[in-house]
Amino acid sequence: MFLITGATGNVGGELATILAGQGHAVRAYVRNPARASHLPEEVELAVGDLDDAEALRAACEGVDTVFFMQATPSPAQAETLVDAATAAGVTHVVVLSSIGTVLHPMPVIGAAINARDEVLRSSSLEVTYLRPNTLTTNALWWREAITAGRPVPNPTDEGLTGPVDPYDIARVAAVVMTDPTHRGHGYILNGPEALSTREQVRILADVLGRQIDVADCTPGELAEASIAAGTPGPQARGLQDLQELFRAGRSGVLTDDVRNVTGVAPRTFRRWCELHRDDFGV
Ligand SMILES: NC(=O)c1ccc[n+]([C@@H]2O[C@H](COP(=O)([O-])OP(=O)(O)OC[C@H]3O[C@@H](n4cnc5c(N)ncnc54)[C@H](OP(=O)(O)O)[C@@H]3O)[C@@H](O)[C@H]2O)c1
Repeated sequence: MFLITGATGNVGGELATILAGQGHAVRAYVRNPARASHLPEEVELAVGDLDDAEALRAACEGVDTVFFMQATPSPAQAETLVDAATAAGVTHVVVLSSIGTVLHPMPVIGAAINARDEVLRSSSLEVTYLRPNTLTTNALWWREAITAGRPVPNPTDEGLTGPVDPYDIARVAAVVMTDPTHRGHGYILNGPEALSTREQVRILADVLGRQIDVADCTPGELAEASIAAGTPGPQARGLQDLQELFRAGRSGVLTDDVRNVTGVAPRTFRRWCELHRDDFGV
């Protein structure tokens, strides 16, 4: 039995679908079952929050491997997961981490994710680390500007990242959860090409068949604007720190880990755009 957290999200949803499609027994840990209606019907639901030790302990019963993700890294929730998993006899955790945990110096967000991962690392569980570069789904952050006809802010100049489709992260997760030879390994996951923000917007505009302008700014200017619009300071500054790293080209590195683990090349950013036209109202 596999337990999947974040199953109503981008990566967890794809993973639950892939594993269930392969005939594996899958349990999805969800806060709200109504948000899980798109999952295959054979996926069992366990309802709870990652802060709920009792619900998590029950959800881990009979499980061998847990896919663990958090929307925001929290060492306390990781401790709750470790306690629940250990008590239930789980042996393996596959954690959705970040490339930011292996860059030195780490970005602020990478350090926070690493502190969370450290809780898993110091447990008795076997841990496998999935460390994605930027997610293709980050392009959805531009949706509001695009639908309103406003330019997309570009705080990263010509800095490159390697956007990876959550579907490809899920494909890797499905392999490392079902093939024990990957236990304890760490993989850096990216798409097949390194792209700047400007190049991503150009591809998206091409696929959507509409003009999308880009407005250059600095990460600091964007953080000021988001704080003025209500984003909490630490969140805006954390993003600023990350964008400065992207701007400096420190996340433009590409590995072949998706293809090496799964045997199939990752999807291009263009392919993600083609599959997600609806998300932009086109
Ligand atoms: N964005 C990037 O460029 C990037 C880069 C590297 C790594 N990452 C990592 O990738 C992950 C994002 O994955 P994603 O796109 O699949 O996420 P997502 O689509 O935003 O989904 C978040 C999931 O977490 C669930 N969740 C949130 N709080 C919860 C709680 N307290 N208890 C239980 N479940 C909770 C949500 O459930 P509900 O439906 O109930 O809200 C949802 O299923 C993050 O861990 C991030 O650190 C992102």
